[in-house]
Amino acid sequence: MDTNAPTAARHELQPRHVKFDWQQTPVQWLPGDPFATHTINVLHLLFPAGEMWFCRVYNKALPMVTDPVVHADAKGFMRQEAIHSRSHEGVIKHYYAAHGMDAKPFTQRIDRLFSHYLGEKPFGLNVGKSRFWLRQQLGIIASLEHFFGYLGQWVLDAKALDEAKADPMMLDLLRWHGAEEVEHRSVAHDLFTHMGGTYFERSLHMLIVMPLLLTLVFQGNRFMMKLDPAQPKQPGFVRGWLSSSRKGHLPNLLHVLSAATRYFSPWFHPGAEGNTQQAMAYLESSPAASAAAHGGNFKR
Ligand SMILES: [Fe+2]
Ligand SMILES: [Fe+2]
Repeated sequence: MDTNAPTAARHELQPRHVKFDWQQTPVQWLPGDPFATHTINVLHLLFPAGEMWFCRVYNKALPMVTDPVVHADAKGFMRQEAIHSRSHEGVIKHYYAAHGMDAKPFTQRIDRLFSHYLGEKPFGLNVGKSRFWLRQQLGIIASLEHFFGYLGQWVLDAKALDEAKADPMMLDLLRWHGAEEVEHRSVAHDLFTHMGGTYFERSLHMLIVMPLLLTLVFQGNRFMMKLDPAQPKQPGFVRGWLSSSRKGHLPNLLHVLSAATRYFSPWFHPGAEGNTQQAMAYLESSPAASAAAHGGNFKR
């Protein structure tokens, strides 16, 4: 495999100005599975701050990008991520708030993670202008994007969510976002490589990102379960995950681990992961994306 080859599926990345209406969405939008509901809900806590941070880092990197294709992709990526961030923020504002769930204690910690520890002055060190630090930020984004691409493909494939009668609005948000993650899955890796990122660095980033993400999902799940006004019973995290993944409501843990492992291959390229055709087909049929393509006349 040619690791430097741009993916065959590369095309111009367009932002889709989607809108979602959360008035009809119940707290447990995946009926009968509060554990999976609140595990997936953690994404709404992480994405607003996380994907805005992606945009800040990319804004810093763009003037240094000399390859026009990488530059155009990075710009398209940024536009898509900004809308992802805003859309998940809308969930916090309108869905959580409508149900009296105050997510701030958790989201403030996430804000601090991205603006302080991964920001321009981590631990008070003035590294904001350092090209080395920028490359580490880009590498962390690339390893996160590997997971988001994986999760995007998973949610496109997860028929069990339809069978369980998941709230259609929430499912469309997850699948629209997932499909765009699959669509732009190579961008972060290609930009990191273009900026001189090495195999050693990206392996190190994955070693940091994997446990960090797992910890945040674990803590976020506990946080959300406690916030749920119905006070669902909390199973142990691993037991809860195994039970939900057996139903097809969460990804299989071994598959997640296997996706992480693939990142350590020296020949890894995200182009070999995910199905662009399937993602584009979903974006054609997504109620929110189709409404956005027709001027945003949204109807549930
Ligand atoms: Fe995203
Ligand atoms: Fe992304």
